[in-house]
Amino acid sequence: MTEPNETANSTASTESTSTADEFTVTPYAVEGEIDYEKLLEQFGAEPLTDEQIARFPDHPLLRRRTFYAGRDVDDYLEAADSGAPHAIVTGRGPSGPMHLGHVLPLYLAKRFQRETEATVYIPLSDDEKFLAKDQSFDAIGEHTRDNLRDILAVGFDPERTRIVVDTADADVIYPIAVRLAKHLTPATIEAVYGDQDTVGLQFYPAVQAAHLLLPQLVDGRQPTLVPIAIDQDPHVRVCRDIAAKEALPVKKPGALLGRFLPSLEGPGKMSSSGDAPSIELTADSETVAETIRTHAYTGGRATIEDHRENGGDPTVDVPFQYLRYFFEPDDAELEHIAADYRSGTLLSGELKEIVIERITEFLADHQRRRAELGSLEAELEPYRLTERERQRALERAGVPTGLEM
Ligand code: TRP
Repeated sequence: MTEPNETANSTASTESTSTADEFTVTPYAVEGEIDYEKLLEQFGAEPLTDEQIARFPDHPLLRRRTFYAGRDVDDYLEAADSGAPHAIVTGRGPSGPMHLGHVLPLYLAKRFQRETEATVYIPLSDDEKFLAKDQSFDAIGEHTRDNLRDILAVGFDPERTRIVVDTADADVIYPIAVRLAKHLTPATIEAVYGDQDTVGLQFYPAVQAAHLLLPQLVDGRQPTLVPIAIDQDPHVRVCRDIAAKEALPVKKPGALLGRFLPSLEGPGKMSSSGDAPSIELTADSETVAETIRTHAYTGGRATIEDHRENGGDPTVDVPFQYLRYFFEPDDAELEHIAADYRSGTLLSGELKEIVIERITEFLADHQRRRAELGSLEAELEPYRLTERERQRALERAGVPTGLEM
C-alpha cells in the first residue's frame, strides 16, 4: 500500500491547541468549542459533496449535513447503487440508558438497510465502557441488556443484521483483535488517543478495529461505512491503518462523520457531557414535555413583546435544531417554521410544543415496539452470528482457533 499512514498524519489531532478556540476531540475527551472544518483538516477526512449527499438514501441527517464528512464514501455509494454487497457498522458503548441522540444513527442505518439492503453490524463495547467508566461489570451488563432492547426495537432486518457484544462474542472478537493488535504500537495509541489510564484502554482500539472489519471477515471484501460522531473517527483511522498493513482480505472501512447533537442546554454543549438533562428513550410524554419546557435552550427573546417585535434565532434554538436534525423531514415545513420564528409570529413556547409533540410520537412508536419484545435471549437469537459465520470470520482473519469445540 502506498497510501500515507493515516494515524501518523493525524498526530496533531489529539490535542488541538489552536489559538483562542481550543478544543480537544478524542473518543475519550470532547472539550471546548469545536471547529468542525478544522477537525476535518486535522483528521484528514473529506467534506461530503452535494453529489454524494444526493446519492445516499434521502434523510434529513444527511441532507442538512449533520453528517457532513467522510472517508471512502464513493466506494460505498457505488456498491449500494449497483446492488453489490455493502455494510454498515454502527456500535454502542453501553454505559447507561440510551438517549434520543444515541438512537438517531441507528434509525439512519435502518433506512439505509431498507433502501439498499445494506448489511448492518451493531457491536456493543461493554469491555470498553467497563474500562472507561467507573462502573462494575454488573452495572455495565445491565446497561447492555437494556440497550439491546432499544436496538432491537429499532426493527432491523434479522437476515441482514448482526449484533455482537464484546464479552459475549469474545470467541470471535478476541482472536481477531489480537491479530490486529500485533502491529499497533503504544506510540500510535499515544499519538491518536493521548494518555490512556489503563492497558485495557490501550488495547481496546484493536477491538473496535475488529468490529469495523467484521462484516468483511464474515461475508467477504466489501465497502463498509461507519456512521459515527466525529469523536469516534480515531478508531476508524487506526483500523484503516491496520487494514492497510496487514495482509487481510478486506478493504479499509469508510466513514460517515457527524456533528454532535446539541444538548438541551444549548449550542456548544455536547449531549453526552456533564449532567445536562437528556431525553431517554423510555421517557413518557409528560417527562418529554417537562424536560423540554424547563431545560431546552431557546433562541427566543426575554419578553413576548420583544420577541413579537424582533423575532427569535432558530440557529441557536435547541427545539428548532431537533426539528432540523430529525423530527421535521419536510424542508419546506422546516423553513416555514424558521421564518415564523424569525419574524416573531411563532413564540419559543409554541416552538417547544411542536417539538414535544414530534418527539413524543417518535418515542411512542419506539416504546411500543420495545414493549412488544419477548425475552431478550429469544429476540436476540436471530441477530447473533451463526457458528458458520464465526468460523468464516476467524478463517479469513487468519486466526483459526486451535480447538474444535
Ligand atoms: N466506541 C463507541 C462509543 O463509545 C461504541 C462502538 C463500539 C462503536 N464499536 C463501534 C461505534 C463501532 C461505531 C462503530 O460510543
